[in-house]
Amino acid sequence: MPIVAGMDRSADATPGEPPEASLHRPVLLTPLIQNLQPREGQVAIDGTLGGGGVTAALLDRVGATGRVLAIDRDPTAIARARLRFAGTAGERLILAQGDFAEIDHIAAGQGIVAADSLCLDLGTSSLQLDDPARGFSFRQDGPLDMRMDQTASGETAATLLNSWDEADLTALIRTYGEERFATAIARAVVRERRRRPMATTQQLRELVEQTIPRRFWPKRIHPATRTFQALRIEVNHELESLRHGLQAAISLLRPGGRLGVISFHSLEDSLVKNALHVAAQNCLCPPQQPFCTCAHRASLLLFTRRAIRPDAEELAVNPRSRSARLRVAEKLEPR
Ligand SMILES: C[S@@+](CC[C@H](N)C(=O)[O-])C[C@H]1O[C@@H](n2cnc3c(N)ncnc32)[C@H](O)[C@@H]1O
Repeated sequence: MPIVAGMDRSADATPGEPPEASLHRPVLLTPLIQNLQPREGQVAIDGTLGGGGVTAALLDRVGATGRVLAIDRDPTAIARARLRFAGTAGERLILAQGDFAEIDHIAAGQGIVAADSLCLDLGTSSLQLDDPARGFSFRQDGPLDMRMDQTASGETAATLLNSWDEADLTALIRTYGEERFATAIARAVVRERRRRPMATTQQLRELVEQTIPRRFWPKRIHPATRTFQALRIEVNHELESLRHGLQAAISLLRPGGRLGVISFHSLEDSLVKNALHVAAQNCLCPPQQPFCTCAHRASLLLFTRRAIRPDAEELAVNPRSRSARLRVAEKLEPR
């Protein structure tokens, strides 16, 4: 069954497929698959399984003789995928829970030393965003958790909000949220937690709404979006994982293999853009230096000077895709 970008996957659920599997609508799926060009018999890796939409498309393309390794940090994504692909994927699909920062080690543990296609579709899935118990969204009330892996021992958003000092909270909200009212929001958090601990998404949402003067509310997003983004990035060490994950992914590709990365905010996208740009350079010496001493050689060929964005059709059916950007590169033969 062909999978079309922007299509409502709830409409094409096959018999036996759990309805939950259709809840996350993959973004930029058509250009991703067109650019990765996974083929019959190949090995593909989906570093961000989520609801399994990209994994399904990869399985479809690598056919009966290929293999797909699908990884997610979130154990619930793995459990859902077990149900979704039970009886259809068989041994062609390997599911692994883990951080894509270690994608090379995870693959090696499954006997995969090189991949033909590799995809990272960053951020959170609708399955995570729409579950109030996960605390990712200000739209429904829930605990301020935000951990992608709730079995891990790391800090929750609540722990962080209740323990960091005001200066660190300001820096976090300003840097990872790109929020101009960071100072005022951090001050309000510190004032609030003296009264009662920060505990729920509703509490944080209301606090941000009360702190940012209404005339400065952004037009296209909720005023709490940037603060929630900053917390989520920190709780999950997202940029650190991405930095390591990109290098590990590049090293795992076989020559001619392709990497596709979909990002959802400017911090992610500039990190991806810079990492791919550096890997595509033949020399990293300062331009004023007369000859090269760095021995750096290009390992990638960039396919996308400008990121691919969702088209009007996809935006119409999936407004959540509006900030998505896809960048693609191909691994070069070692020189
Ligand atoms: C946007 S969703 C992916 C959606 C998926 N492509 C689909 O078609 O349904 C992002 C997923 O990546 C996972 N994720 C985010 N950061 C991760 C990381 N560092 N390592 C592994 N998984 C990660 C999240 O838990 C989430 O399930």
